Amino acid sequence: MNYLLIKHLHVTAAGLSILFFIIRAYWSVTENALLQKKFVKIAPHVIDTVLLVAAILLSMMLGAAAAQPWVLTKILLLLVYIGVGTIAIKRGRTPRSRAIAAIIAVLVFFYIVGVALHRHPASWFF
Ligand code: HEM
Repeated sequence: MNYLLIKHLHVTAAGLSILFFIIRAYWSVTENALLQKKFVKIAPHVIDTVLLVAAILLSMMLGAAAAQPWVLTKILLLLVYIGVGTIAIKRGRTPRSRAIAAIIAVLVFFYIVGVALHRHPASWFF
């Protein structure tokens, strides 16, 4: 399969992921009933699965070249993004705690983008 094509898929899914996340986090903080809609609940899982599957494919295609600190950093921070993200969307008990979690999740996401572009764990600070 074409590496660049999968990379585009990966980056597009990443863009959609954060876009959907910000919308859902806003609805979560403002306690909007739209958050309970079936499409709103399912779409993020589909997008995030595409993001992750594409990431795995890219890593496999890179082979040994993927065994680098920045790739490991992205995997770990993706788990952090998901974990903090679930606090922002559903696990946080007050709108305030959900808002704080949402801000942290967005910051983690943009840190990951920096890791991707600089190919370095220090991200934008490299
Ligand atoms: C929220 C999570 C993620 C975001 C926002 C993200 C973002 C990006 C971006 C923007 C690029 C393009 C970099 C460039 O054009 O130079 C990229 C490439 C890549 N990402 Fe991710 N990524 C994420 C998760 C992951 C994970 C978990 C892995 C590893 C399993 C991964 C592996 C890769 C690889 C191997 C490339 C290709 C590097 C290259 O050929 O330049 N990504 N990612």
